[in-house]
Amino acid sequence: MNHEPVMLNEVLELIKNCRHQKILDGTLGLGGYSEAMLKNFPECFVLGLDRDQQAINFSRERLKNFELEKRFLACQKNFGSLSEIPDADSFDVYVFDLGVSNMQITTPERGFSFQSDGPLDMRMNPDENSLTAREVLEQSDEKTLAEIFWKYGEERFSRQIASAVKKNKKPLETTGDLVNLIRVSLPQPVQRKMGTHPARRIFQALRIYVNDEMQELENLLKFMENFNHEALIIFVSYHSLEDRIVKKTFREWQSSGTGKILTRHPMTPSELEVKNNYKARSAKLRAFFTIRH
Ligand SMILES: C[S@@+](CC[C@H](N)C(=O)[O-])C[C@H]1O[C@@H](n2cnc3c(N)ncnc32)[C@H](O)[C@@H]1O
Repeated sequence: MNHEPVMLNEVLELIKNCRHQKILDGTLGLGGYSEAMLKNFPECFVLGLDRDQQAINFSRERLKNFELEKRFLACQKNFGSLSEIPDADSFDVYVFDLGVSNMQITTPERGFSFQSDGPLDMRMNPDENSLTAREVLEQSDEKTLAEIFWKYGEERFSRQIASAVKKNKKPLETTGDLVNLIRVSLPQPVQRKMGTHPARRIFQALRIYVNDEMQELENLLKFMENFNHEALIIFVSYHSLEDRIVKKTFREWQSSGTGKILTRHPMTPSELEVKNNYKARSAKLRAFFTIRH
């Protein structure tokens, strides 16, 4: 299993220039960032969080030597509840690489992928009591579904697809059922013009809704706005909704004297990185430095 860490050099370069004794990797995933930080900064301790237990298990195994040396600890946690971690406001560096990992996408049973068939689930942590994607499709009315598809997927055909979901005679059980339904509800010429998989935006929208991703991000930022210590905060985001929230919040923080924006414009991956890792194409990195006041 591999997840090519996105904009890793840029992340390391920012960390290198600040104090980095205690680092919080808030989206551990497959541990790519954490491993690189532990190797590059021999003095540092890394706490890795992820709401997905499979990610925690994988990374613990990958980084077990660092755990033995007491330089690394992994903990299943939603970053939206960061305040529940003891001393959560005492780290030198906070890194959040938002979205889904390669492991989630390539495990059909998790239901994240439109490219392989599996149950319509999409929950990053099934113990968090959220509805599965199948339940969302089943229990939401047509208007709500259209709103979800538009708001979180910016899908132009949100209404047509929502209507097709509700008119469908058989319940949608699998990711394949949903992909087929999306295909038949969009006119062929539209699909040819789209340039991406016709189901991509709908899957993104459902995933964001199922995992309440925007609210968790807001909760996290709300907690960090009260920081009163020097810390580097880095976000890597993959769609405009997340990036907009981070950008707006950083501006507010700067205006209220919380600290300083380090990236006036977001950093983006190099052409070479995008060529080698297509997933990186939409990445935007923003960084902020909080101060004691
Ligand atoms: C893009 S991956 C991170 C990859 C990681 N940087 C690496 O190098 O392997 C995003 C990870 O964030 C996790 N995640 C998403 N939302 C989260 C949240 N609210 N709290 C904690 N983890 C979250 C996902 O489960 C996923 O494993």
